[in-house]
Amino acid sequence: MIPKETIDKIFESVKIEEVIEDFIRLQKKGVNYIGKCPFHNEKTPSFTVSPTKGIYKCFGCGKGGNAVKFIMELEQYNYPEALKYLAKKYQIEIIEKKLTAKQKKIQDKKEDLYAVSKFANKSFQDFLWNSKEGKTICLSYFEERGFSNEIIREFELGYNPKKDGVFTELALKNGFEINTLTEVGLSIKKNNSNKNFDRFKERSIFPIHNYSGRVVGFGGRAFNSKQKAKYLNSPESPIYYKSKLLYGIFQAKQHIAKENNCYIVEGYTDVISMHMKNVKNVVAASGTALGNYQLRLINRITENITLLFDGDSAGINATNKTIDLALHEGMNINIVQFPNNEDPDSLSKKLSKHDFQKFLSENSVNFVEYKITLANFQSLNDPKEIISKKRNIFKSISYIPDSLIRAEYCKKYFSQLGVSEEVMLQEVSNIKKATNSAKFQTEIEKENNIITQKDNETNILYNLEKELIRLLLNYANNTFFINERKISVAEMIITDLDFDQIKFSFNIFNQIYNEVKTSFLSSKYIDLKHFINHSDEDINKISIDLISEKHSISNNWKEKHKIFTLMESEKMKNTTEKAILSLKKCHVDIKIKELQKLITEGFSESSVLNQLSELTKVKTQISKSLGRNVG
Ligand code: CTP
Ligand code: MN
Repeated sequence: MIPKETIDKIFESVKIEEVIEDFIRLQKKGVNYIGKCPFHNEKTPSFTVSPTKGIYKCFGCGKGGNAVKFIMELEQYNYPEALKYLAKKYQIEIIEKKLTAKQKKIQDKKEDLYAVSKFANKSFQDFLWNSKEGKTICLSYFEERGFSNEIIREFELGYNPKKDGVFTELALKNGFEINTLTEVGLSIKKNNSNKNFDRFKERSIFPIHNYSGRVVGFGGRAFNSKQKAKYLNSPESPIYYKSKLLYGIFQAKQHIAKENNCYIVEGYTDVISMHMKNVKNVVAASGTALGNYQLRLINRITENITLLFDGDSAGINATNKTIDLALHEGMNINIVQFPNNEDPDSLSKKLSKHDFQKFLSENSVNFVEYKITLANFQSLNDPKEIISKKRNIFKSISYIPDSLIRAEYCKKYFSQLGVSEEVMLQEVSNIKKATNSAKFQTEIEKENNIITQKDNETNILYNLEKELIRLLLNYANNTFFINERKISVAEMIITDLDFDQIKFSFNIFNQIYNEVKTSFLSSKYIDLKHFINHSDEDINKISIDLISEKHSISNNWKEKHKIFTLMESEKMKNTTEKAILSLKKCHVDIKIKELQKLITEGFSESSVLNQLSELTKVKTQISKSLGRNVG
């Protein structure tokens, strides 16, 4: 645990432009900097960094955030990892909170396991590169497989020699304990003799790194068929959980982010061969079907995955399972089916870089197309079988959490599936209800759904509330004069809304507004940093979006700001007034509509009629003021 004070200290010390300049070239433009976005490919720079606000924003791909977010996105670090990175850069010492004795024991033990794995990884590479046996047996084998020296080093491939217990002896000599070695499965203690054995004796070694690059396990491949198993893997240990790891993710994560897609293959050799063909956004689920945890690891970087697999029946079953899991996680899934008896490793050897990449892009289809092809409806006669295969497709679609995307799939494929669009939508929604696969939605998604589905009025209301929040976040502390009294934008909005008891209808705006209000009431000052660095991700995101709208960040902000003060704060006053009045008018409009509806339904009591005429007057007044206000 990093203590709060340290986190504050990190935030205080960090200069966003310095953090970003370690990765991309920035050019000064006014008070901001611009550069080429590291998150997507672009020719003209649209990546903007604002030192005054401490944020970056790309107007090409929409990514934005503070320095911590930048490091998280670019290095694919989690929050504490990113903080540690920044602390190191700014020489801030992190004194982590004291662990309990029990936590400490577990931590120490895990560190021992990491340490011995690290030592093994180094030793295996030494055996490979620096021993005659390693070079003749293993290096030549890798070369035969088409691995370049560069790639062998990048993936830290290694060799465990033939002679019994060579590695184990070396580790013991270096002070590691036999129990640690057996716990991570590098060594096997034989009961009836004093000798210990190497698990990976006479095998080529593929180390497995976790997300942040620490070696946690190994795969070892045999050289000849006399050896029992072709592949041996580390057993599970406190640092190696098969279902939580993806082979190659450490080497792939930045490429996955950049390509905004992740290829998923079967094993080690597929990953490495694809890297040889310059396709680097690829991971393998070594030995197990892909699980939720692994999908979420990928989902942190991209929501798009492409499964590459050979079409045997085991492969088909695994693929169908993965499709449903991924859809359920809200991810998009494509499939590339390989020709018979080919896997990515073997096919990549037969094709040039260009042709291999072309093969992938030309053969990638979405999951519905894949399932339609697989079902081969033309060849089927039995109606029951046909329907069961169609239902299977509907069922997969029903796992998609976003209703609009589900509808889009129905629209696109109903005719190919020989049903009407309505029937398909209905079937999908029935299955969905039955399986009740509701997925967690963030506040923003929920609210976006409301506004796309609901009427125009809700839409208008959303935008009006957003505009007020935008003014608060950008200009809360700006002041102007009303009747010779100095008043800030925040004060005007808060007193005005309070006066008419207007509340924000959208939860996220309401939350931000309440925090602005609290801060204003206690200190008369709104600290923007509070929102940019907010611990609630939704607030964080929307704040950054609102303060980095094109006109307020990409141009010469200070300069504009100066012009703005020169032009008297008259304009700011008008803009704020207009935003408040518009919101009030919207509320009045909604009220009027409700009353009119009551009247058409037959409720024509005088109280209703009076209220309606009152509100109509208010509306006229507001409209007049709005007309005068040309800001
Ligand atoms: N694999 C595994 N365990 C096995 C067999 C395969 O983990 N018992 C994984 C490996 O990661 C391997 C991938 O599946 O990279 C592909 O399998 P396969 O083609 O059989 O392995 P290769 O080493 O490519 O063998 P070959 O040279 O015979 O193609
Ligand atoms: Mn193979």
